Amino acid sequence: MDLPPFANEPIFPGVDDPKMREAFPRAIAQVRKQLGRTYPLYIDGRDVTTPNTLDSVNPADPDEIVGKVCQAGVKEAEAALDAAERALETWRDVDPSQRAMYLVKAAELTRRRMFEYAAWQVLEEGKQWAQAYNDVAEGIDFLEYYAREMVRLGAAQDMGSYAGESNFCFYQPKGVAVVIAPWNFPFAIGCGMCAAAIVAGNPVVFKPSSQSSVVGHHLVEIFREVGLPAGVFNYVPGPGSQIGDLLVDSPKVAVIAFTGSMSVGLRIVERAGRTPENQPSVKHVICEMGGKNAIVIDEEFDEEAAIRDVLYSAFGYQGQKCSACSRLIVVDKVYDRFVPKLVEAAKKLKIGPAEDPSNYMGPVIDAKAQRTILQYVELAGKEGTVLYRSAVPDKGYYVPMTLVEGITPQKRLGQEEVFGPVLSIMRAKDFDEALAWANSTRFALTGAVFSRNEEHLRTAVRQFRVGNLYLNRASVGALVKVQPFGGFKMSGAGTKAGGPDYLLHFMDPRCVTQP
Ligand code: NAD
Ligand code: ALA
Repeated sequence: MDLPPFANEPIFPGVDDPKMREAFPRAIAQVRKQLGRTYPLYIDGRDVTTPNTLDSVNPADPDEIVGKVCQAGVKEAEAALDAAERALETWRDVDPSQRAMYLVKAAELTRRRMFEYAAWQVLEEGKQWAQAYNDVAEGIDFLEYYAREMVRLGAAQDMGSYAGESNFCFYQPKGVAVVIAPWNFPFAIGCGMCAAAIVAGNPVVFKPSSQSSVVGHHLVEIFREVGLPAGVFNYVPGPGSQIGDLLVDSPKVAVIAFTGSMSVGLRIVERAGRTPENQPSVKHVICEMGGKNAIVIDEEFDEEAAIRDVLYSAFGYQGQKCSACSRLIVVDKVYDRFVPKLVEAAKKLKIGPAEDPSNYMGPVIDAKAQRTILQYVELAGKEGTVLYRSAVPDKGYYVPMTLVEGITPQKRLGQEEVFGPVLSIMRAKDFDEALAWANSTRFALTGAVFSRNEEHLRTAVRQFRVGNLYLNRASVGALVKVQPFGGFKMSGAGTKAGGPDYLLHFMDPRCVTQP
């Protein structure tokens, strides 16, 4: 099968683009007409309704119910695992190129619904137009890229001959995959993990986050329409603490792909490590977790770019990205010149519903996140000096944009992931101290350095120990293939989503020798 070379889907061109100005309001209005529908589970190729549903609401206006999502219980989760187990019998032997074609078709379908799917994210997750559009584009990239990767990896590799015997290796799927996704990239991350598992031959039981289950259901639409055989993709939203544990513990599961917080990730790693006697294989866990990412500002740098990119990294999508900048480390020599300008620029940013493109920042995802982040805002006043705390709209799950200085690595705001728009500003005596501080947390996900000093940039490449390092640009927005994404230490177990090694986590190699 010949597929054209992979190319990234174009990202959001800007709010002033005439096509965006026309298409987004129209798509949002269309989606609004469909709010409040009930979403069934999807098991073994069939919709399954359950009596208990969870309301998914618009975080900018919690009275607006986006959808009512059926919740899986033990019975449904077991049924999904059984369906996936049955599907494995045939799906694992489907030719890799044929499996890849399902993803290519899924990408095409998604592309046609770009604005519709992005509009759902504006309303369910409070994503700005750009954030929502780029999330759908990233999902398309995962589908297209993993399709091509499977074609590449699906061909048997000749290992050469020895003593008259010839040898070749090929990959087989691990088995049933459980995919557990976060809400903050509500389409892209779930889509990427599911697509990788499926194309590698592993039927999937997908548990989206409760806060993004309506967008999670888009995968049902897509995989159903491309004609995936029954049981290859199953959708079982439900409370993480119940359904999550059940799926993770099941002996039927061979591989778990998780993206989310450190605490849940570590819990999954621990539970998956217990092996009951009836479990046929060692469970493999792919876990991608949180960050406490830093941007370092050196003595000589492009000030305008730094202000724009620090604000975008820290407050884009309300700081609710694993890649978000949570610590700004500025060297002493430029601190008093740079920080006041940054604060002045922050004061100009508008806060309000994401559907209005003039708003830079919107609501956070739910009341629980709002409470947690507000505690950090309060902590900011105790651990440092608050330079700016914005006003927020009365209605909706808003928290103030907060910039606090006087933070050091010893303080909680220098160590803990906030996952909200609170930027800890740190004054380092020089570049070496800035780098040491940047590396001083348990996390190692993203980081950025603004500097014109080539020697310092080379040092950062060697010593800034993160999975994704950006020089003179924002710390967010990794693109599939060209910027494989993921961290290490407590940010994850070293997998790179959208990279050339990713599919290998879902497969086991086999070697065949013959005279
Ligand atoms: P979360 O850990 O609360 O939830 C993630 C998923 O795990 C959800 O589907 C949730 O229902 C499920 N879950 C909860 N308890 C579970 C359990 N006991 N067993 C199994 N599953 C369970 O995270 P979140 O709030 O959805 O997302 C935010 C976090 O995700 C942040 O820490 C962020 O940094 C991280 N994140 C990391 C990456 C990355 O690529 N490294 C990307 C996005 C988000
Ligand atoms: N891939 C996302 C980013 O780079 C998390 O911002």
